[in-house]
Amino acid sequence: MDRSPKWWGRSAWSFLSAVRARAPLVQCITNLVSMDIAANVLLAAGASPAMVHSLREVPDFTPRCDAVYVNVGTLSEDWLPSMRAAASAGRPWVLDPVAAAASGFRMEACLSLLELRPAVVRGNGSEILALADRSAAASSSFKVVPRY
Ligand SMILES: *[C@@H]1O[C@H](CO)[C@@H](O)[C@H](O)[C@H]1NC(C)=O
Repeated sequence: MDRSPKWWGRSAWSFLSAVRARAPLVQCITNLVSMDIAANVLLAAGASPAMVHSLREVPDFTPRCDAVYVNVGTLSEDWLPSMRAAASAGRPWVLDPVAAAASGFRMEACLSLLELRPAVVRGNGSEILALADRSAAASSSFKVVPRY
């Protein structure tokens, strides 16, 4: 397959055009540090971000979304049920297992989210290796997108 700079440019433009044409509603349950960046990147790409974190909103809101983004960067016991509920709503979703191995709670949270079959796991090398080491699901069919 041709993976020239031209191919990457055409592919990126094709994906960006598809996002702009569809203007997908993306629910983000993401960390407090990068929440505004995530919202602005989605806006710049032509999507419609929604920073909806409350468990009580998930049943009404998440089924109307085109996709869900879950980032465990500033994980708390309050957010994990929202993450699990949103991930279970039948929408394609992305798991960003930030610092998965930093604590037992975080690792167990990431493993329980992984069992809910994300379409994409977006992590860096150490996060992917830590999860692959611990998860039977790691050999399944989700896409791994490196984060540098
Ligand atoms: C991966 O990201 C985590 C969280 O930001 C960081 O602590 C870790 O050093 C990173 N690992 C690599 C290999 O980049």
